[in-house]
Amino acid sequence: MTELEIRPARPEDLAGILTLERACFRPPWTERSLSEEMNDPDGLTLAALRGGRLAGFCMMHRAGDQAELYQIAVCPEERRAGVALELLRSAETAAGGRGMGEAFLEVRASNAPAVGLYEKAGWRRLGTRRNYYVDPVEDALLYGKELKE
Ligand SMILES: CC(C)(COP(=O)(O)OP(=O)(O)OC[C@H]1O[C@@H](n2cnc3c(N)ncnc32)[C@H](O)[C@@H]1OP(=O)(O)O)[C@@H](O)C(=O)NCCC(=O)NCCS
Repeated sequence: MTELEIRPARPEDLAGILTLERACFRPPWTERSLSEEMNDPDGLTLAALRGGRLAGFCMMHRAGDQAELYQIAVCPEERRAGVALELLRSAETAAGGRGMGEAFLEVRASNAPAVGLYEKAGWRRLGTRRNYYVDPVEDALLYGKELKE
């Protein structure tokens, strides 16, 4: 299999990120909001590429000295090959290197692949936010992880 490359997202990745965003999330972020996040100095968007094609992306965002994982997605044909784990670890290392001491995320309680990913990556479950999501209404599980500098 061609090697996976993980690097900060570039403007030319936007079209692929938008396509994957629309395939994965309801409601998806707009092209404009994705582009703004990619250009935000407090944002940290990483792209995973295989053979020059987008395999996945993740977005972390600085909130003071904490990081929040906004989203992570991998193309269906690239799943279960460790792409998300590698993206997440790269984002954690980059955020830790920028002085963010801990990271948080929310995930739909029914999203077993994502919950499995976060637990495998060593995130700790901190609690539940009742009816946090809409369409459909669902609880969010809150996870956190300490980051190393
Ligand atoms: C969640 C998601 C990012 C995982 O991507 P991935 O590249 O397939 O994940 P990885 O291959 O790195 O898997 C790492 C671990 O996560 C867990 N995991 C991943 N997919 C899983 C699944 N379908 N069922 C159960 N556990 C799963 C496993 O523990 C896995 O380790 P293993 O393969 O050794 O068992 C991917 O399924 C996805 O893009 N989903 C749609 C978007 C989404 O829901 N994002 C999360 C909310 S922002």
